[in-house]
Amino acid sequence: MSPVDPAWTPQSWRAFPCAQQPVYPDRAALDRVLGELATLPPLVTSYEIESLKAQIAEAARGERFILWGGDCAESFADCSSPAIAAKLKILLQMSLVLVHGTRKRITRVGRFAGQYAKPRSSATETIGGVELPTFRGDNVNHPEPSAAARTPDPTLLLRGYERAALTLNFVRALVDGGFADLHHPENWDLEFVRHSPLAAEYQRMVDSIGESLRFMETLAGGTIAAMQRVDFYTSHEMLVLEYEAALTRQVPRRDGWFNLSTHLPWIGVRTGTTDGAHVEFCRGIRNPVGVKVGPGTTPESLVAMVRRLSPVNEPGRIVLITRFGAHQIGRMFPPLLRAVRDEGLSVAWVCDPMHGNTETVVPTGGAWAGKSVKTRKFAHVLAEVQQAIEIHRNESVPLAGVHIELTGENVTECTGGARGLTDDHLARAYRSQVDPRLNYEQALELAMLIARV
Ligand code: PEP
Ligand code: CO
Repeated sequence: MSPVDPAWTPQSWRAFPCAQQPVYPDRAALDRVLGELATLPPLVTSYEIESLKAQIAEAARGERFILWGGDCAESFADCSSPAIAAKLKILLQMSLVLVHGTRKRITRVGRFAGQYAKPRSSATETIGGVELPTFRGDNVNHPEPSAAARTPDPTLLLRGYERAALTLNFVRALVDGGFADLHHPENWDLEFVRHSPLAAEYQRMVDSIGESLRFMETLAGGTIAAMQRVDFYTSHEMLVLEYEAALTRQVPRRDGWFNLSTHLPWIGVRTGTTDGAHVEFCRGIRNPVGVKVGPGTTPESLVAMVRRLSPVNEPGRIVLITRFGAHQIGRMFPPLLRAVRDEGLSVAWVCDPMHGNTETVVPTGGAWAGKSVKTRKFAHVLAEVQQAIEIHRNESVPLAGVHIELTGENVTECTGGARGLTDDHLARAYRSQVDPRLNYEQALELAMLIARV
């Protein structure tokens, strides 16, 4: 484990430049919320965090694959039984396809139970001639364009903590109650699976896994209990440091500090400077930490970042999440991959084929004709994953997983895929407040593609 530097405390980040923080007008109100958060129970345990770290270490060695996905931003309104169950179902279906194709164990990580804060490219926007703070996610402010709604409200941090707890409670209950039982994959069929062009291929995989399972159980002479449950881990972008610090604790019989708000926090590109507050904060916690790596990352800065976050080169500690875009990955990624490999740094590489492929289109037909819409082309998402797989193969460094923005619902936010959605279809069911997500079919198609290569 990393020796705890005496200069680090859960508050030492305050002395560093801290990007993307809400400005709360009433410090006393914020302090009351933080005091309350600090007394509330943790959302996850150090035991779970350490077991995830061990799994990430396996994935880094190519012995496992990490399937990481969920909304760009969770909303409080979507903390509901159908939305949570649909997210679990698509992650379960994708992982079944990946087990079948890769013959590796899969670690499932949700962008859920805490993904309520978003980084923004500017702090304010002008709406109807009035300059307002930008919307930063449900645990910071409200999206309505008024000064009152956009003023950061610290009590939303408590609401976010509670929504995360409710989500996690339901996830744990479903998983423990046999929802993820491989003997009953019909539990996780989404309503529209039967009508999908991919239905037949998916059904063949399910049948083949069912047959293998029955064969193994005949040999073993009983039910294989390990097949009745799977684990889900949680993650979110570690953005509002006041919140993260209030949930960072010491636990009996373990050294160091754990951020017990989530298993796997990550640092986004807008807060990923080596000498910034977010990196300072992460340096002292024992959780595995994700770091987004994009077009602005140089080999030198990446090596410095990994050394700062993992001074003793602990396996499973660092996940580097690459997000270049299909047109840039081929040129930008190999030098970074080689630099980290050649320095002997222990990291797990995960491909995020979403964030470098966002574009704005103007549909010519449909209800949104003439309007600018943020979308992603499924072909670009696929192309980035395919190139990542190839680059990893050429450099003999395992691809440890994928990080996807998806939903189990039938939205129309990204174009392309088996059903051939076009720009003109975007208006039909575009529900994301932030980045466009793969819908159920597109996510399953992506899993099938990864499983095939
Ligand atoms: C995100 O993951 O939603 C995000 C904002 O990513 P990035 O920091 O890579 O832009
Ligand atoms: Co996003």
